[in-house]
Amino acid sequence: MDVKLVVFLSLLVNMVTSYKPTHEKTWAVQLEGGREEALRIAHKTGATLVKKIFGDYYLFKDENVRKARTKKDCEKMLKAEPSVKMVKEDVLHTRQLYAQHQGVVLNDPLWGYQTYLHSGLVHMNVLPAWERTRKGEGVVVGVIDDGIFTNQPDLRDNLDLGLSYDVFRGTEDPTPYMPQSSHGTNCAGIIAAVHNNSFCGVGVAYKAKVAGIKMFSGAITDISDAQEASALSHEHQHISIYSCSWGPSDWNNALEGPDTVAREALVMAAREGRDGKGSIFVFSTGNGGTYGDSCAYNGYINTNNTIGIGGLLQDGSIPSFAEACTSVFAVTYSRDYTGDTANLVVPYRSSGCRTSVSGTSPAAAMAAGVFSLVLSAK
Ligand SMILES: *[C@@H]1O[C@H](CO)[C@@H](O)[C@H](O)[C@H]1NC(C)=O
Ligand SMILES: *[C@@H]1O[C@H](CO)[C@@H](O)[C@H](O)[C@H]1NC(C)=O
Repeated sequence: MDVKLVVFLSLLVNMVTSYKPTHEKTWAVQLEGGREEALRIAHKTGATLVKKIFGDYYLFKDENVRKARTKKDCEKMLKAEPSVKMVKEDVLHTRQLYAQHQGVVLNDPLWGYQTYLHSGLVHMNVLPAWERTRKGEGVVVGVIDDGIFTNQPDLRDNLDLGLSYDVFRGTEDPTPYMPQSSHGTNCAGIIAAVHNNSFCGVGVAYKAKVAGIKMFSGAITDISDAQEASALSHEHQHISIYSCSWGPSDWNNALEGPDTVAREALVMAAREGRDGKGSIFVFSTGNGGTYGDSCAYNGYINTNNTIGIGGLLQDGSIPSFAEACTSVFAVTYSRDYTGDTANLVVPYRSSGCRTSVSGTSPAAAMAAGVFSLVLSAK
């Protein structure tokens, strides 16, 4: 006989004879006669009575599955007892706490700070929405703002440069005019910050694309009716959602809205965009609450063509900046300007990351992210 074969065979024989069961078998057994009868059956069958489960159900185990008899034998013996009504092998099942989505493990360092997406008292239940949607894939959100930094590590890969636009210069370059102009970059990040890229946090709809539509050269900008009209209708067949975190002045109850041409553009895009389904316009309701401003005066949200979004604090309370009016369609998570320890994670300027933006600007962006999820529902 070949030496190798002999060695192999003796190894095999050794393996078989030295085999020890690593798992004992357990059964749930329903029986009449109480604990005494259970003990009697245990003794008779050689199984061990582990405990009473409840009522007339008892847990038995057999540690000698391979030694004395097979598992089937013990099961058979248990079933053969007249007092036994039911024998069910106790097997394992996988169950999951619905509150915890342990499957989502991201390397974005501030993912844990983004409790408003997944845990926290006020959160937007985004994790189950990620499971039921394509996370915004196929949706382009136009961020009408002060631009988007094109090399921002959390936005670079989710930026649609071809659909971006500078309304002042007529170019596609959304880069902000000033290095400190980060408002649009913040909002774009809330919507679609790249996920699992070991940087900053993650966007609500991290597979959506954002287009930067630059309509502000600073925090307050004078813009013509025509320029505003081109922003509000830019590429409306390809841009599904316009995220607008701006509006009329916040402190003097200015009765203002889109002027003639801008209004026509808005109505047209809201009707004809998205292949006739209508582009979705999301507007912030304003931060003038502190000054007693009311969003009832705001013509950008006081129209059936837009969705007005306010903010809520992490404990569910109303922020100091909140403006009250009937045009507040919904609120999303936000944070207050002073004394609020909550986090709101955004990409900042060209290469940074911040945890502290406030107001209805991030709130509207967050809603635009949620609507992107809705549009990408499976
Ligand atoms: C994120 O990336 C890490 C590797 O850095 C990987 O282990 C993990 O599965 C990724 N998570 C998701 C949800 O893609
Ligand atoms: C919505 O607004 C448009 C004008 O923008 C108007 O023609 C239309 O009647 C309005 N619809 C409703 C249901 O109020």
